[in-house]
Amino acid sequence: MKSLSIFKLATLAFFCLIIVASCTKEGPIGPAGLNGENGENGADGRDGVDGNVTCLVCHSGTNMEQKQAEFAMSEHSVGAIAVDYAGSQARCAPCHSHEQFVQVMTLGKVAGDITNPSAWECSTCHGIHKTFEGQDFALRSKDPVVSNADKVTVLEMNGNSNLCAVCHQARTAEPNTASPGETFRISNTHYGPHHGPQANVVSGVGFSEIPGSVAYPEAGSNKHLAQASCTGCHMAPFTNGQGGHSFIPNVDACNACHNANIDDYNYGGVQTEVHELLVELRDKLVELGVVEYIEADAAFEPIVGTYPMVQAQAYYNWIGLEEDRSLGAHNPKYVKALLLNTIEALQ
Ligand code: HEC
Ligand code: HEC
Ligand code: HEC
Ligand code: HEC
Ligand code: HEC
Ligand code: HEC
Repeated sequence: MKSLSIFKLATLAFFCLIIVASCTKEGPIGPAGLNGENGENGADGRDGVDGNVTCLVCHSGTNMEQKQAEFAMSEHSVGAIAVDYAGSQARCAPCHSHEQFVQVMTLGKVAGDITNPSAWECSTCHGIHKTFEGQDFALRSKDPVVSNADKVTVLEMNGNSNLCAVCHQARTAEPNTASPGETFRISNTHYGPHHGPQANVVSGVGFSEIPGSVAYPEAGSNKHLAQASCTGCHMAPFTNGQGGHSFIPNVDACNACHNANIDDYNYGGVQTEVHELLVELRDKLVELGVVEYIEADAAFEPIVGTYPMVQAQAYYNWIGLEEDRSLGAHNPKYVKALLLNTIEALQ
């Protein structure tokens, strides 16, 4: 258990003093400022917030312990699958260990392979405070992220959720963007966008938009991006063992926006429908000889070979949407359009 050392407490007290002192120097303490647009603090009304009160918004009572307790529920705090295998490799930065992420966020890149990679902790995502104001979560990043896959598309996830997109995005561009042509070579059995293309799915960009009878929604038009984004569902206030720092999507958030009363994520049956479409597409790919079931891995994997472009794109869409793991909840319209048009194109 990590506890505040005397040194840290002294540092904290020191900062509080500085802030209180600088407030008094500028005159009497004024009223708290209104929040500006886009969740940023507005320029007016900044002065005068009591330094102690601001710190205590977070550093008070059992708030930090509560966050610890929630975080213990998250796979981030285990890092089981990801850290062991990829966490030490410099080429897998910044996504697979605490050390890699912090190095990339602070130094711009990793120094080299890591000898003892660790799982996520508070200071993976939270660095040293910059302004110490109420909205300053001291997140290591909240800037829009340039897509790893095509190095061009900007993933603008709406504030704090940009932090998530640093890691939860595709690493490989869809086949016809990566290598345009009539055919495409799937060169290994791990081919695909990589395990967590959630930011692409939520943004509605980066998958193979194979033409078909269903119109694709405009990129970025997803209501779940504008109104919720990653933190709006996964970090909605912690209730009934969901949300907050457990990172488990909170059904209460779905219900609040949808004025509904569901107890799972299958609102309107969208997850059932998307699951069925994913099975249908996979079976089609097996029939065409693009995919086979590998007993030893207990998984469906692509067969290495050169395929008509549309078949390689169909595989990319299948594995990417499978590994998104929301079964359509991230962006119902985009996901359904992709699956319906892809299946249609393979008929
Ligand atoms: C919006 C929430 C929030 C506010 C407001 C806030 N902090 Fe923090 N603070 C955090 C978080 C989160 C951490 C990282 C915790 C960790 O790594 O264990 C942190 C860490 C720290 C640390 C390092 C402690 C350690 O365990 O390494 C100090 C010192 C600190 N804060 C001082 C302050 C002071 C002084 C203020 C007010 C001027 C303040 N904080 C306001 C959330 C906040
Ligand atoms: C440093 C990279 C990184 C960042 C930043 C990050 N994640 Fe993750 N996340 C991962 C990895 C890797 C896993 C898989 C962990 C494992 O299973 O070992 C994961 C797992 C998850 C899971 C599934 C497991 C669980 O229950 O925790 C969710 C949900 C998730 N992340 C959401 C988010 C959200 C929301 C954010 C932003 C607030 C975020 N992540 C930020 C890398 C990251
Ligand atoms: C852009 C960030 C990023 C990079 C770079 C990256 N990964 Fe990942 N990887 C992730 C995320 C995020 C997850 C977890 C996704 C989830 O839980 O949905 C993951 C999951 C995995 C998993 C777990 C798969 C499973 O079965 O759940 C393995 C294995 C893996 N990555 C290997 C690697 C290797 C090896 C490298 C380097 C060659 C690498 N990754 C580079 C983001 C990344
Ligand atoms: C995977 C990234 C990640 C990790 C790890 C993480 N946080 Fe956070 N934390 C966030 C994000 C993102 C927000 C802002 C959430 C929002 O915008 O709704 C936040 C907000 C906070 C806040 C302010 C909000 C509040 O309700 O008081 C505190 C305090 C905090 N975190 C403490 C912690 C502590 C303590 C830990 C370790 C147990 C931790 N965080 C680990 C991403 C993370
Ligand atoms: C509309 C709410 C919503 C938004 C917005 C959202 N998610 Fe999700 N997410 C879900 C739901 C629902 C699931 C499916 C959970 C389940 O079925 O267990 C999910 C699944 C996931 C998973 C797989 C978790 C697991 O345990 O299988 C990850 C990782 C994830 N989301 C990350 C993200 C990231 C990163 C973002 C932002 C780019 C994001 N999500 C935006 C609701 C949301
Ligand atoms: C911040 C508000 C917000 C949150 C949180 C939210 N949604 Fe939505 N959701 C919307 C809006 C707005 C639409 C678009 C409705 C439209 O276009 O008519 C939508 C659309 C949908 C759709 C497409 C069907 C439809 O009604 O148009 C599904 C399915 C859905 N949401 C499921 C979920 C689930 C599951 C969760 C929780 C994991 C969730 N939503 C959380 C606001 C939200």
